[in-house]
Amino acid sequence: MNILIVGSGGREHALAWRIAQSPLCERIYAAPGNAGIATVAECIGVDVADHGAVIAFCRAHDIGLVVIGPEAPLVAGLADDLAAAGIRHFGPSRLAAQLEGSKGFTKDLCAEFNIPTGAYGRFTDAASAKAYLEGRSMPIVVKADGLAAGKGVVIANTAGEAAAAVDACFDGAFGAAGSEVVIEDYLDGEEASFFALCDGKTAIAFGAAQDHKRVGDGDTGPNTGGMGAYTPAPVMTDEMIARTMDEIIRPTVAGLASRGTPFKGVLFAGLMITAKGPELIEYNVRFGDPECQVLMMLLKSDMLPLLLATADGTLDAVALDWHDGATLTVVMAATGYPGTPEKGSEIRGLDAADAIDGVTVFHAGTKADGNRVLANGGRVLNVTARGASVTEAQARAYAAIDVIDWPEGFCRHDIGWRAIARERGATG
Ligand code: AMP
Ligand code: GLY
Repeated sequence: MNILIVGSGGREHALAWRIAQSPLCERIYAAPGNAGIATVAECIGVDVADHGAVIAFCRAHDIGLVVIGPEAPLVAGLADDLAAAGIRHFGPSRLAAQLEGSKGFTKDLCAEFNIPTGAYGRFTDAASAKAYLEGRSMPIVVKADGLAAGKGVVIANTAGEAAAAVDACFDGAFGAAGSEVVIEDYLDGEEASFFALCDGKTAIAFGAAQDHKRVGDGDTGPNTGGMGAYTPAPVMTDEMIARTMDEIIRPTVAGLASRGTPFKGVLFAGLMITAKGPELIEYNVRFGDPECQVLMMLLKSDMLPLLLATADGTLDAVALDWHDGATLTVVMAATGYPGTPEKGSEIRGLDAADAIDGVTVFHAGTKADGNRVLANGGRVLNVTARGASVTEAQARAYAAIDVIDWPEGFCRHDIGWRAIARERGATG
């Protein structure tokens, strides 16, 4: 079977790398891909915003499955247009993708189906948003309703900060994404990224990871798309996974099905594990990046049949198998990230890093220039490793970083700290 992967990040490299290992897979194409993806797939220039062009490519190249990596094409309805053309695809419809496309949509769904999440209000003007703030306890969270590339969230410690965040949203700081504002209670606890494959009716747990959102060591500095991740997440015990499936994932899947907008794809629940148990911070309608990279490396099962079962509605018949141990990924970013990253610097030593036992380097933002690999984004590399423990996986990932020669890049030095502290505690 021929596969088309839509996207250009480390998530898509990890998906391509994993799918390429399937005996069912013949050719992989990626639109647009990157220099790392090009080692396992043919990168093509089709504009993914032009759904007609994507459909024409699929027909001309006998594509058996389109895997849609990022949220933007999902929210734009690529899955709907592929469905109308009779082309099998992995990723939800535009209406189901509202789970990520509108925070207010998700909060209303939670209210309707009794899914645990912080109390909230939705507003389309500053005056009523500020009126709601009166009498709420601090801290409180102010969010632009729409897609804001992870930047539309302010955790306000005072009513003044919250009011300023409301004004910034309505003044256009996040463009159209901020024309509606959600204000919600602050949830206190440990965060986890939880994944479930959903075929519209059946949902199966697909692992949990922990991300590191802040740019600096010790969780300092501005928020990013994610500076590193590992799986499994120790906070997601069997009991927490069962509760998350029963209290959050299954009611969501059943609720969307009952509304006539079934969810097919991977549901990524951003969770806060509070004193009460798992509560939903937000949904994403795609794999996390960099969480996908560690999941693909820990997964032992063939990924392609899982994607096909999700698309075909046969997840009730699949079983999952994972490697023992843990996987961890460290993001290497270009100087300037998460502001404006420097582009075009050369990265050396990638083959030597890849050759280290248990290590795979996924490309997140690179481009090939002849035999050279150049930085071409904010997050550039995902140095990913498997080990018997998070501690061992981390040691391997940083050993690989040591042999990568890229003075213009940087990374955090403490990815996995929470799990490693727990592992140290467990061994005394
Ligand atoms: P988001 O862009 O929605 O992923 O939010 C970014 C980050 O803000 C999350 O990963 C959390 O760390 C934090 N956050 C968002 N909503 C809440 C909340 N209600 N309570 C506590 N932290 C939150
Ligand atoms: N790593 C968080 C995300 O993909 O949204």
